[in-house]
Amino acid sequence: MTSGVPGVAALLTAASAELEAAGVATARNDAEWLLASVLGVGRFEIYLGAHGAPVPDVVERYEGLVRRRAAGEPLQQLVGWEAFRGVRVRVTRDVLVPRPETEALVEWALALVGGDARLVVDVGTGSGCIACAMAAERPEIRVLAVDVSPAAAVVARGNAASLGLGDRIAVVTADLLGPVRDASVDMVVANPPYLPAPLLPSLQREVRDWDPHLALAAGDDGLSVLRPLIADARRVLKPGAPLVVETAGGSQADVAATLLSDSGYEDVDQRADLTGTVRFVAARWPAAPSAGFAGAIERGRLGGGEAPVDGNAGVAGATSASGRHDIIPGPGVGNALSQS
Ligand SMILES: C[S@@+](CC[C@H](N)C(=O)[O-])C[C@H]1O[C@@H](n2cnc3c(N)ncnc32)[C@H](O)[C@@H]1O
Repeated sequence: MTSGVPGVAALLTAASAELEAAGVATARNDAEWLLASVLGVGRFEIYLGAHGAPVPDVVERYEGLVRRRAAGEPLQQLVGWEAFRGVRVRVTRDVLVPRPETEALVEWALALVGGDARLVVDVGTGSGCIACAMAAERPEIRVLAVDVSPAAAVVARGNAASLGLGDRIAVVTADLLGPVRDASVDMVVANPPYLPAPLLPSLQREVRDWDPHLALAAGDDGLSVLRPLIADARRVLKPGAPLVVETAGGSQADVAATLLSDSGYEDVDQRADLTGTVRFVAARWPAAPSAGFAGAIERGRLGGGEAPVDGNAGVAGATSASGRHDIIPGPGVGNALSQS
């Protein structure tokens, strides 16, 4: 230890105590990740000492981050990234911090998408975590990643590029499926905003004060994005192609299942997340839609001021140098979208 400058052990002890006193449930974990971040090393390397004793500038920056964490700023936004199904994505205040439960949505989507070259549309891409994880695991998949937030689209585009997936992921700023050509895609996957807006004040502070509200709330009933998505996905899905969505879980998953079957989808199915909450819903647009539904579908709608996107436009050839990524342990304690 440099004279007068605390060493690693003392810094961690003080930071853990400060975070614990501030009600951070994962105080030691967060203290370690924040120190690793300012030292520019991995979480466990902080104990190995190869980085040398912390210098005053490091200590000052560390104490600043700990103060911000104690005030409720999410760990992932402070360190600037989260691990999601083996890819590391940059996160900022403009995107939802990817949640661990959404990894199970990707798992199911990959199981449903089939084996040939496939075009997937990820609606509400945020950080691009779903698009990146799917493209990273399956070189034959191309993704059109859509977000209504231009700032989120910038983050998603940056993540695709830094993961070497920019040739198979096209990111566009648009409302829902507005720019997508009719009957052109093999899957629509979405983790849309789904919380009733009146619930926002009761969320834990890391979520309420730091995640973008555009990523959280969907009208008074939580369905103002999911409902039109289910309706419009019928227009863009190829016959037999699936729509896979994340919901708030429980009764909202049942509502989504009912909306899907009432809208003419088939094979409606639900899955639970790791906590046992039934959260994911999938269904297929029929291989041969009935005349009644075919007539009812709104065709050729364009939205968001974007040019129409052909299934093949903007997403280059089906292969990439990028293969399966190793699983990266991330800082994520996954601020659940639960109420405080
Ligand atoms: C719950 S976040 C999901 C982000 C990311 N896919 C994930 O799983 O972490 C929902 C995202 O949908 C976007 N969004 C909200 N309304 C939208 C709309 N009408 N069309 C497209 N994207 C929308 C938000 O900007 C936000 O990035």
